[in-house]
Amino acid sequence: MSDTGRRCDIVIRHGTLVDGTGGPPRAADVAISGERIAAVGDLGAVAAEHEIDASGRAVAPGFIDVHTHDDRALLSDPDMAFKASQGVTTVVIGNCGSSLAPLEPGRPTPPPLNLFGGPEWWRFPTVASYVTELERAPAAINTAILIGHATLRTGAMDDLDRPATDTEIAVMQERLEEGMAAGAIGFSTGLFYPPNRAAPTDEVVALAEVAARAGGVHTTHMRDEHDHVLDSLDETFEIGSRAKLPVVVSHHKCAGPRNFGRTRDTLRRIDDARRTQEVGLDVYPYTAGSSVLLPALIEDSARVLLTWSEPCPEMAGRDLAEIAAEWGVDILAAADRLQPAGAVYFMMDEEDVRRILAYPHSMIGSDGSPHDEKPHPRLWGTFPRVLGHYSREVGLFPLQTAVHKMTGLAAARFGFADRGVVRPGAAADIVIFDPAAIIDRATYDDPVQPAAGIHLVMANGEAVWDGSRSTGARPGRVLRRG
Ligand code: ZN
Ligand code: CU
Repeated sequence: MSDTGRRCDIVIRHGTLVDGTGGPPRAADVAISGERIAAVGDLGAVAAEHEIDASGRAVAPGFIDVHTHDDRALLSDPDMAFKASQGVTTVVIGNCGSSLAPLEPGRPTPPPLNLFGGPEWWRFPTVASYVTELERAPAAINTAILIGHATLRTGAMDDLDRPATDTEIAVMQERLEEGMAAGAIGFSTGLFYPPNRAAPTDEVVALAEVAARAGGVHTTHMRDEHDHVLDSLDETFEIGSRAKLPVVVSHHKCAGPRNFGRTRDTLRRIDDARRTQEVGLDVYPYTAGSSVLLPALIEDSARVLLTWSEPCPEMAGRDLAEIAAEWGVDILAAADRLQPAGAVYFMMDEEDVRRILAYPHSMIGSDGSPHDEKPHPRLWGTFPRVLGHYSREVGLFPLQTAVHKMTGLAAARFGFADRGVVRPGAAADIVIFDPAAIIDRATYDDPVQPAAGIHLVMANGEAVWDGSRSTGARPGRVLRRG
């Protein structure tokens, strides 16, 4: 293709292209026409409406946050500043078995489904109704939808503490099928959580098969990330091989001090499985996790920080042990008094986090909770932390590997055919950042902080974050597989 005399809407000049494939950074200009990348290379002869000088900066595909709970935030906070400010242009929602759709209004929403907020948000009896609302009032960034097992169970069952009957499975299958037809990309479960715990493997397989027929993926917050993590991996592989679909192990970890160091074994087990089936995994770059307040997680944590509490909102941000001491009760009694609530749990080993981050097949997922009073810092910091801390400061892997984990690898795993790589014809999701300065600024004490070093973020050819604030543009799309 000759570039001579061409006109484009935007040309990004003089940047260092980190194209998302994992290949070495190179000098290249990027031209954008409408929503697409028009040309990549030396584009000195191309004229454009807008010129962007990216000298000294990296130009990369917009980051894909493969593990989020942003189902409601896309509707209530459509600027999605906590994601766009990190360079994220696509979020995968509905993880850990919890999705906002499909659920008839008026059904109970036990933890962790309460992470989306009050009953007014539960108004999507079908995935199609959710897609319609999001497409009528788009967010700044793109969305890919997973359908959650806990959501399906609460919709189809009156008692969650037992396996689903054949009739209930048929109801869930029908809703899942509707959701896949409406554009969902797969099915998630959270077998660890009370609404899913009683589900046997067969129930999950019966649902995963429906997602498989529609070309979907299966993501899982496994039954056990603690002492029985290897059994849980085997269950995950069994689900994938019986239902014949790719599986993604969510926020992989070996939690609790007894299990520190066991990522050597789990990653070896994942390597073995990858010889015969498609297995992916995601990870967040922190040694603390976050979820609803659950005794099982408190017991395995060195420290627990409260992120929200319905009866005691003033306790958000405080240490659970301190609250217990103040009240003169033990920790579990204090937790009971704070319910419903959420928390940050310090339960991982730094070496394990690094080993998973450095594993060639791991993707990056923030797992942030956008509606928490005092959220885990991963909500605002995940992607810049991988780039600035783990790649640049710690030297775990080169910049192009960090970018690949959050772009090309994620797009391939989740089936976004025209995203994740900067090349002609691809969607113009672009982030321009300073590789020497990019760093997360969100901390456990002060978690609502945009990162430093991100200069411009574009989704579908439109700027959504200008380096210090949201632009107000809302070009986000609902992404399908393939
Ligand atoms: Zn989870
Ligand atoms: Cu999650």
